[in-house]
Amino acid sequence: MTDATDTTDATDTTDASGRGRTAVLAGLGTFVPPRVVTNEELSRTMDTSDEWIRTRTGITQRHWADPGTATGDLAVAAGERALKSAGSGEVDLVVLATTTPDHPCPATAPEVAFRLGLEGVPAYDVAAVCSGFVYGLASAAGAIAAGIAERVLVIGAETYSTILDPQDRTTSVIFGDGAGAVVLRAGDPTEPGALLGYDLGSDGSLKDLIIVPGGGSRQRSAAAAADAPEPDPADAYFAMQGKSVFRHAVTRMAASSQAMLERAGWAADSVDRFVGHQANVRILHAVADQLGMARDRTVVNLDRVGNTSAASIPLALSDAVADGLITPGDRVLMSAFGGGVTWGSTALVWPDVTPY
Ligand code: COA
Repeated sequence: MTDATDTTDATDTTDASGRGRTAVLAGLGTFVPPRVVTNEELSRTMDTSDEWIRTRTGITQRHWADPGTATGDLAVAAGERALKSAGSGEVDLVVLATTTPDHPCPATAPEVAFRLGLEGVPAYDVAAVCSGFVYGLASAAGAIAAGIAERVLVIGAETYSTILDPQDRTTSVIFGDGAGAVVLRAGDPTEPGALLGYDLGSDGSLKDLIIVPGGGSRQRSAAAAADAPEPDPADAYFAMQGKSVFRHAVTRMAASSQAMLERAGWAADSVDRFVGHQANVRILHAVADQLGMARDRTVVNLDRVGNTSAASIPLALSDAVADGLITPGDRVLMSAFGGGVTWGSTALVWPDVTPY
């Protein structure tokens, strides 16, 4: 029964002082598996070269998990570090963005939460491929604004090495494994670290551009038909129409970044660092060009880790802070594009946070 004296409005995101409840970044942690796979190593097993990979993508190496290591393991390692960075192990929601969950069912997040000692907290996966981390931030921030959570652990974690076709040079040279996590806490929109809004979108008419065709209900239901052909083993692998993805990634990330800049009230040339999804250095530079932003504002760590999909942005943030490229007070714009297709952007003024 509703208490007639209770005037709480569930849609009201202001606190008792009348200020908005905004998600504020309070901790950052990352983990990459120790095994480094160089371009040179890949060129021994497939028809490619260090020169082609470096000049077409900017990548020189990536990390791949050893057999037996799953996405959840990387997520736990990054999550532990983010909690340490935030100075508190307390969170009341876990959101895990991944394209490579430990199992098709259940979600990976509940086990990750359990292993982090967060037994009992709500935990769910977000599937937005390379945009997953930005979608995860927006989802977590929504939970904070709605009063559902005070502190949220948002993790992006991937083991793409488990879905790459070792014979496919158009995908195997691009992706790496890794995890990055942030702690968001409820705070004030004027604080450093406050996420200043989101621009999110999708276009499902382009779903075939980035796809693992098999393993889902589409193929399983087709297989039930009496005259169904044998499933192709290649359908278990990740497939990508690289050229088309490249074009859409530039267009969408540029438009989404521009929308986010308008939301934040920032001019493009006032951004200190652009942390775009680390897919290809040529994509990042093309987006910077379209925004009218100097290319040297672009954070690039894909040379070291490749495209780590949902882990890409937190890994890039962490490396940029470690390299002294992002310091407290800097204006940071983040933007991603991925399968679905999906895209998303957000922005913040960098807080005084030490990544682990
Ligand atoms: N090594 C050597 N040659 C390769 C190669 C490799 N690893 N991969 C492709 N090639 C060849 C192609 O077969 C093609 O040969 P051809 O001209 O004889 O047909 C040639 O290189 C050019 O291929 P193309 O696909 O046109 O190259 P590209 O310049 O578009 O670069 C990608 C390919 C994949 C690097 C680029 O399209 C890209 O980065 N796309 C975005 C991918 C991405 O980031 N996806 C993640 C989701 S955002």
